[in-house]
Amino acid sequence: MKTVVLGVSGSVACYRACDIARELMRNDCRVRVCLTHAASKFVSPSLFEALTGQPCLVSAFDEPEQGRMAHIDWAREADVVTVAPATANILNKLANGYADDMLTTLALAYDGPTVVAPAMNPTMFGNETTQASLRAIEARGASIVWPQSGDVACGENGQGKLAAVQDIVDATLGVLARSKTLVGKTVLITSGPTQEPIDDVRFLSNRSSGKMGAALARAALDRGASVVLVTGPTNTVLPSGATLVWVRTAREMLAAAMSHVGNSDLIFGAAAVSDFSPAMLVSGKIRKADGLPTVALVVNPDIIAELAKAAPASARVIAFAAEPNPDLEVARRKLEEKGVYAVAHNDVSDAGIGFESDDNELTLVTRDREVRSPRAPKIVCAHWLLEQTTLPN
Ligand code: C5P
Repeated sequence: MKTVVLGVSGSVACYRACDIARELMRNDCRVRVCLTHAASKFVSPSLFEALTGQPCLVSAFDEPEQGRMAHIDWAREADVVTVAPATANILNKLANGYADDMLTTLALAYDGPTVVAPAMNPTMFGNETTQASLRAIEARGASIVWPQSGDVACGENGQGKLAAVQDIVDATLGVLARSKTLVGKTVLITSGPTQEPIDDVRFLSNRSSGKMGAALARAALDRGASVVLVTGPTNTVLPSGATLVWVRTAREMLAAAMSHVGNSDLIFGAAAVSDFSPAMLVSGKIRKADGLPTVALVVNPDIIAELAKAAPASARVIAFAAEPNPDLEVARRKLEEKGVYAVAHNDVSDAGIGFESDDNELTLVTRDREVRSPRAPKIVCAHWLLEQTTLPN
């Protein structure tokens, strides 16, 4: 039996959390409800206790078992945390790591799969802070069950109505179903740009943000995998559950990835590796006064091709092809050139999905099929890619 912690915050829609709890129980889940104080003004904890047969938490000092710490126990025992309805307040707190009541404290102590179903006044929903918080929560791996448009309790009309109970239940069950699909597997990911030094202060690099690699790492962790993320320099926040290996140059990335390839089941080349590096590193700083420098380049190793050669026969290796057009010819060619199972093509000339953007749209090219992902946040594309490339257990 799976354990769902159902976080309920103080939107008028919180009465519908009763149906969410019951429906999850009908689907063989143990449901433990944690209410915010505002939610407990709308719906009594006793009602949830009667419905679920479990104690209900409200205050940060609620301890159903004496001498235990409920926020830690519940966080450890949860297979999924679903926050429904999620108010603007709770979204903004979750995005920023607040822990000033039981629900936010529990959420901060929990690092597993999360589902969030917002419900609020349309202006609060459209507020830039709320939207930024939602994007941040989603980028960190939460599945968002988007609110519907329509009449809301305050009399306005717009997006903010809690999604249908069934959609929230389906999202929670979907996250539970996928959460074990990579248990026992190791996923190796190269990610971010490389930096190839010209002198002690300058380097050759590119615009890769490392967001796609980070999303893949989160998605694989959510599915139960052990994840090794070999990353070039990036400011993107990386998942703490992964083994992080920081590198700078392509050669360092190759060496780091090669030391993990032997144990890997799935290998993704999401890094934008610099194809060239300066033939010589000038120590100090090249000076303008010394005239126009000539920087001779040498070709870098093709990391994903080397990994494909060294990978166990049962492993699947997936390269990326960031191309300046939608043409799949290059991706098809790379399948053979790099000796990989698949190539994920994305058209970086499209501003909405190019380098540095939060969204992506991938076409996965294998020897026998070409399939396209939805245009969606990178975390959604990452889950799609794992579904397309993971062998059933
Ligand atoms: O050859 P190209 O750069 O177009 O291929 C992109 C794919 O190859 C990506 O998966 C990238 O991570 C990988 N790559 C690599 N080492 C290189 C160049 C690209 O692993 N030197």
